[in-house]
Amino acid sequence: MQCGVLCCEPGRRSRGCRILPAVCHTPYSRCPLPWRQCRPPIRKERLIRSAAIVMGTAAALGLLAALLLLTTGTWGSSIHSHQPPINDRPVIGVLAQETHFKNLRSLGRSYIAASYVKTLESAGARVIPIKINLPDEEYVKIFKTINGFLLPGGGVDLQNSEYARVAKIFYDLALTANDKGDYFPIWGTCLGFEQMTVLTSGELLLTLTKTEDISLPLNFTKNVLESRLFGNIPDRLYTALSSMSITANFHSWSLSLQNFTANEKLRKFYHILSTNSDGILDFISTFEAYDYPFYGVQWHPEKNPFEWKKTSDISHTAEGVQVAFYMADFFVSEARKSHHQFSDAAQVQYPLIYNYCPLYTGNISVFEQMYFF
Ligand SMILES: *[C@@H]1O[C@H](CO)[C@@H](O)[C@H](O)[C@H]1NC(C)=O
Ligand SMILES: *[C@@H]1O[C@H](CO)[C@@H](O)[C@H](O)[C@H]1NC(C)=O
Ligand SMILES: *[C@@H]1O[C@H](CO)[C@@H](O)[C@H](O)[C@H]1NC(C)=O
Repeated sequence: MQCGVLCCEPGRRSRGCRILPAVCHTPYSRCPLPWRQCRPPIRKERLIRSAAIVMGTAAALGLLAALLLLTTGTWGSSIHSHQPPINDRPVIGVLAQETHFKNLRSLGRSYIAASYVKTLESAGARVIPIKINLPDEEYVKIFKTINGFLLPGGGVDLQNSEYARVAKIFYDLALTANDKGDYFPIWGTCLGFEQMTVLTSGELLLTLTKTEDISLPLNFTKNVLESRLFGNIPDRLYTALSSMSITANFHSWSLSLQNFTANEKLRKFYHILSTNSDGILDFISTFEAYDYPFYGVQWHPEKNPFEWKKTSDISHTAEGVQVAFYMADFFVSEARKSHHQFSDAAQVQYPLIYNYCPLYTGNISVFEQMYFF
């Protein structure tokens, strides 16, 4: 089995590093591409090299042999101590969308619900709004300055909207970047999840379900604890997610398990992590891509801590709120692995969300606060 490569799954630390058979199709050979690379034990090599330079004698060679012997014993831990470098100043781009609520159009032609921004900020990221209606080249420039891309929920057309156009630009850029080892995560929530299915399959495969304003527990799939997204989830939150109605669903369209399974492009690209049912149809509620740091949830983690619409079924339990932060922390940790630079020049050109003022919309919409552009 030594024909393989060393694969370190993100977020799993040393536990996630294994020598993988590159050619055989075990479940582990589906490790995301960016981590599918040999990581020589650099620290050890450096140690050996400096020792050789200083001594340069037979005695040194003896020492070297002893050193080699010594390090062979700790081979595993030496490799495992090599985590990819971390960028502790992640910036995440959150995509705006056309203001599809008629009563809010006078406030701005596009918007971002503030709950997405707050959730990312509370996990240690900064946010820039990605406005719609910019020329393609602008998005390419923005891509090089951010460390992750979030497609929020909402209500625009998945094939003919600016949201869909810009989503495709970032999705394609992220595919290429990740293929080249330039780590770049994408997260889709609700409409964003649905948009990812359209981008991956090239088709609209959704179907109507009764899932508007209902909180559900997740039906986890069998190998969910082998996933990156849930591989490190605390037992308490795993139990809460599987038994308490804490995932807020606000969608009239869903990707049925049936349509997912029938579509080869989706099936090969995404690992289903959870499903749900509206009583009639099973639909996908959480997935992650096998070979890319792409994640999608049909439900709304950001609503538990930040949306309070009185008539709604959103859970504000401690567990619901902690799940929201678990998800945000996971995604921001993914963004810390990206080394795109948010330079001073970029800051001037693409101002952080701190430069904008959210409006109170709790009395006129489903969101407590919204940014308008
Ligand atoms: C499958 O997708 C088609 C669109 O291609 C849609 O019309 C149909 O309702 C979907 N069926 C199910 C069961 O999801
Ligand atoms: C979990 O899946 C089962 C089987 O399809 C279904 O009957 C049940 O309603 C699902 N639970 C939830 C919370 O969606
Ligand atoms: C909603 O609240 C804002 C701010 O308090 C207020 O100016 C506005 O008139 C309210 N709108 C409605 C329809 O109640």
